[in-house]
Amino acid sequence: MLANKTIVLGVTGGIAAYKAADLASKLTQAGAKVRVIMTKSALEFITPLTFEGITGNAVITDMFQTTAEHRINHVALSEVADAIVIAPATANIIAKIACGIADDMLTCTVLVTKAPIIVSPAMHANMYENSITQENIAKLKIRGFTIIEPEVGRLASGGYGVGRLPDTEVIIGTIQQVFGKNGDLKGKRIVVTAGGTREALDPVRYISNHSSGKMGYAVAEAARDRGAKVTLITTPTALAIPTGVETIKVQSAKQMRDTVVKATAKADALIMAAAVADYRPKTTAKQKIKKGAGDLTLELVKTPDIISEVKGKFLKIGFAAETQDLVANAKKKLTNKALDMIVANDVTSEGSGFGADTSKVTLINKGGKQEDLPLMTKREVADKILDRVGKLLGEKGK
Ligand SMILES: Cc1cc2nc3c(=O)[nH]c(=O)nc-3n(C[C@H](O)[C@H](O)[C@H](O)COP(=O)(O)O)c2cc1C
Repeated sequence: MLANKTIVLGVTGGIAAYKAADLASKLTQAGAKVRVIMTKSALEFITPLTFEGITGNAVITDMFQTTAEHRINHVALSEVADAIVIAPATANIIAKIACGIADDMLTCTVLVTKAPIIVSPAMHANMYENSITQENIAKLKIRGFTIIEPEVGRLASGGYGVGRLPDTEVIIGTIQQVFGKNGDLKGKRIVVTAGGTREALDPVRYISNHSSGKMGYAVAEAARDRGAKVTLITTPTALAIPTGVETIKVQSAKQMRDTVVKATAKADALIMAAAVADYRPKTTAKQKIKKGAGDLTLELVKTPDIISEVKGKFLKIGFAAETQDLVANAKKKLTNKALDMIVANDVTSEGSGFGADTSKVTLINKGGKQEDLPLMTKREVADKILDRVGKLLGEKGK
């Protein structure tokens, strides 16, 4: 997604300028060509050498630099940019851009470019909340700039409030979302479930499984990056909430069912990557169950079969995590639950279990078309699934 994209990273004079080094590093690691432009004020906070070391490219700090290495005219970077990202963006740079000022390399580049521009404001809360800054941000939004809302938290300039630069992952997620806007799933509504449900025994205990949620999150992010409007219904996991994805948190199978029913009302596809419990305790104790002298027997009852129960014209994609007879069991599930496709995953095979970053799966369509995929990252698996989802939606005339 970011590979071979040229990203012009504008760094301006705020305390959060040091965080731009992490952003430049992660973008470079993801395969992007990063060209950094620093404002004069940014040089007070971090040196160009840091960015040159990280990106392998010369950093532009002055529109009138004359050394051969740095000589570049004021439109050059705007022409090669696939996107311009200003992070952190000071109140000052936002005001200048909103007024069309072009008195340094960054503002000139912004004024010339046809590439999408992403601005991540970071400043003291009073500066951010000032109506002048808010009006300037509103002007940029009207002109099609993507603004990343700053986060609330402790501010370097003192106090607590809105104005912190979000984590690098949020900025990168936004860049990917911007690149994906015209992807093959543009405008499609895709509901994804993730994680293992928790079926409460009492206020402090539950029955669950080893699902990490990684597969579902990978599908949600990949669908977002292909232009889909994604709703992720997730149980508690250790994963960061994906940027640009509507995320709804649930615990039990019943909560997940109720949420899936609502979320799929206008969906084009439901991808059930969650590991939903088949059984739950018949009763949930109101108080913590005390340890007694003898053993304890639990009575379990069936949970709702979400993918079978939920009705609609959308595609239904299920997952089968199996420990034996993988394909036979998956095919049975595909037919019994009237799915359009099933992703069969032998969770006992190496590198393919719960919590792993890779997975080896077999994709089976309703018509029987079967494809054994090699071991690949969950993100790659997600894209393979979405390739098929795109095709199936096309066949359905959606
Ligand atoms: C220590 C220090 C920290 C600053 N932090 C910020 C900040 O986080 N956000 C901001 O908008 N301005 C901040 N400023 C003010 C800017 O540096 C100032 O407005 C400058 O003119 C911005 O120039 P630029 O937009 O060309 O980079 C800070 C100034 C100082 C002295």
